[in-house]
Amino acid sequence: MTQLHHFLSVRQIADQQLLKDLFAAAEKFQKEPEQNNSLHGKVLASLFYEPSTRTRFSFESAMLRLGGQYISMQNAVQDSSAKKGESLEDTIRVVCGYADCIVLRHPENGAAQRAAKVSSVPIINAGDGAGEHPTQALLDLYTMQKELGGVDNLTIALVGDCLHSRTIHSLVQLLTLYEGVTLYLVSPPQLRLPKEYLGNFREISDLKEVLPVADVVYMTRMQKERFSVKEEYERLKDSYAFGANELEQLKKTAIVMDPLPRVHTVSSDIDHDKRAAYFRQAHNGLFVRMALLEYLLLS
Ligand code: NCD
Repeated sequence: MTQLHHFLSVRQIADQQLLKDLFAAAEKFQKEPEQNNSLHGKVLASLFYEPSTRTRFSFESAMLRLGGQYISMQNAVQDSSAKKGESLEDTIRVVCGYADCIVLRHPENGAAQRAAKVSSVPIINAGDGAGEHPTQALLDLYTMQKELGGVDNLTIALVGDCLHSRTIHSLVQLLTLYEGVTLYLVSPPQLRLPKEYLGNFREISDLKEVLPVADVVYMTRMQKERFSVKEEYERLKDSYAFGANELEQLKKTAIVMDPLPRVHTVSSDIDHDKRAAYFRQAHNGLFVRMALLEYLLLS
């Protein structure tokens, strides 16, 4: 497949080859953690208009571990010239002169696409509103592959806020590249997946139905910041608590994932269980992002 310049959406990935290559590179970084200098002399700009812990730090750590450096704006709404009224496009036109790659998180759908139109350096979409979060989907699949030996033929339940969760929007589309996946989308009826995301899945509301059959239970929090009616959030936020009772009904070989932060989703009571994979999942983000940075900056 042709080399990607930007990474804006999982729709840019048409077959499994790129995933295989990235995951093989990630696996190598994970197995051989010694310092590598492949990105020596390169600068990453992280430009974040929304809060982040894992995504920003793992990209920055990935850059450092590859011998590169980063410049970082962690609260660009307040601290960048956006506050003075500068357009996203103008900010990008300037920042791409200072960096070799820009990781962008922004509250508007399509922001990464807009940035890519005016950027001379690769743009990585680190979350565009309730749109997509394509690098999270990469690390989610890498995690399933590592934990369960592959993704084909798995029964997977994506649970929570299917309407607003950008991690679900990206993952649901990438899962169509695998064979024999049985996919359940578990959400309250008001929070179903938007129609623009295609795939072969069953929509249900009751988590209990899938617990005995799932290989992967992927929990997501209700995306409070995307609700226009706050009472609606309050009503729905506890829809899918996952604790010891739920764990008991899971297969011994299943895993529980969560892109984190966990807010009214997974109880810390189950952290000790080996099926609780969410912190390993977050850790995997480092290696997958190392692989992605090398791919975009060196190929
Ligand atoms: C997710 C996000 O920002 O969309 N966080 C992350 O990157 N792991 C999930 C979320 O905020 O619920």
